[in-house]
Amino acid sequence: MKNQTKISEYNFEASEFNWEITPGKTIKAWGFNKQLPGPVLRANVGDTLVVRLTNNLKEATAIHWHGIRLPAAMDGTDAMQKPVKPGESFEYRFIVPDAGTFWYHSHTNETIQMEKGMYGALIVDDNNDPVVDGERIFLIDDMKLNDKNEFTKPSWFLSKAIERHDGRQGNTLLINGKENPVVNVNGGQTERWRFINSSSARYFVLHLGGKEFKIIASDGGLLEHPITVREALITPGERIDIVLDFKEGETFPIESLAYSRMTMLVRPKQETFATVKVGVSKPTKAFIPETLRSIEVLAQQDAAVTRKIKFSVDPRIRDQKDFRINDGVHVNDKPVMVGELQVWEVSNTSRMDHPFHLHGFFFQVLEENGKPPAYRAWKDTVNLKPQSTVKIAWMPDNRPGTWMYHCHIIEHHAAGMMAHFDVIDGSKPYEQKPSTHTHHH
Ligand code: C2O
Ligand code: CU
Repeated sequence: MKNQTKISEYNFEASEFNWEITPGKTIKAWGFNKQLPGPVLRANVGDTLVVRLTNNLKEATAIHWHGIRLPAAMDGTDAMQKPVKPGESFEYRFIVPDAGTFWYHSHTNETIQMEKGMYGALIVDDNNDPVVDGERIFLIDDMKLNDKNEFTKPSWFLSKAIERHDGRQGNTLLINGKENPVVNVNGGQTERWRFINSSSARYFVLHLGGKEFKIIASDGGLLEHPITVREALITPGERIDIVLDFKEGETFPIESLAYSRMTMLVRPKQETFATVKVGVSKPTKAFIPETLRSIEVLAQQDAAVTRKIKFSVDPRIRDQKDFRINDGVHVNDKPVMVGELQVWEVSNTSRMDHPFHLHGFFFQVLEENGKPPAYRAWKDTVNLKPQSTVKIAWMPDNRPGTWMYHCHIIEHHAAGMMAHFDVIDGSKPYEQKPSTHTHHH
């Protein structure tokens, strides 16, 4: 039986602060409550989360609750909320209807604000979660710092264009705001590790020095069955929960394998983010069932497509309108009706990868280039490989308002690879609003 639902309340102060990423190396971070990442928000399914944000930065900000199926007014985008000005406050209040690993991040001037650290984890627990001996959250990020540990911005035209094209990928690798930390665990234990890729552009291919692990959850909570692997791609915005066992005396890295997302300057390579050391053995109480839950099938693979969306990168150096959706930048897409199943064919005609993110709703991948995915999952972010097509299905439930989808490489999003669309309640008259998007450069 469900416990009674509660209200979880947090006060958030957005500000600039000093943050030590490794002894002797301090950056001027931006974030929440002077922590990088921001505080872990935690609630049970069905609880109400209240976050009172006070903005003590010198510029406006707003928070997006990535993956939460909340009312449009709480989504933190500038289509639905006026960004919170310096010195002002705003109260976010919404129910968390799904268990899983979610996160929050700035949704204003993201190429600066997210880069400087304005993100954190939001975990929603449920009483049918598998029993483990311990749990950890890992937020993956990287920063592009100069030799004085300051954030760098490319200054000349070509380097600006390249950063915009590749996405900002730095060589200061961070896991939970720290450079190459040691993670101490105990032998004989089974833990659940929740990974969140909070970087601007990095494709993180989770690898534990070759050690086997099981994927048990993705963006929208538990899978149906654990999947045993040795590596797993986590694109910007995506989450993966794994379970793994430890042997006393073992040491292994948390690393990313090289992934070529077809960038101009960024070179794919294998890189270490943390080192895990396994101490003395302890008894375990963990139990990971073979069936974690069942996921209803939203649509069959051959379901009729209701909308086609095109992601493209067109060489238009002069006006820089090159990161496009349906041949435009910062576009308004057609509305969808509450209760009408959406089957979208999202194609990527460009020669580079883009992580497609849909705000506020989970989808299921029906096929990728004609093939069904390896397992069923609820997703809010999915990779679009170069010159490929992904078919997804999702159901607009009764949460009318303006929503969006975009590339989660933050520089591409800022460059225009995004669309607003309305979810409308068919029983009410409707008029599409003109674009309200404000640009930040
Ligand atoms: Cu995490 Cu608009 O996205
Ligand atoms: Cu992109």
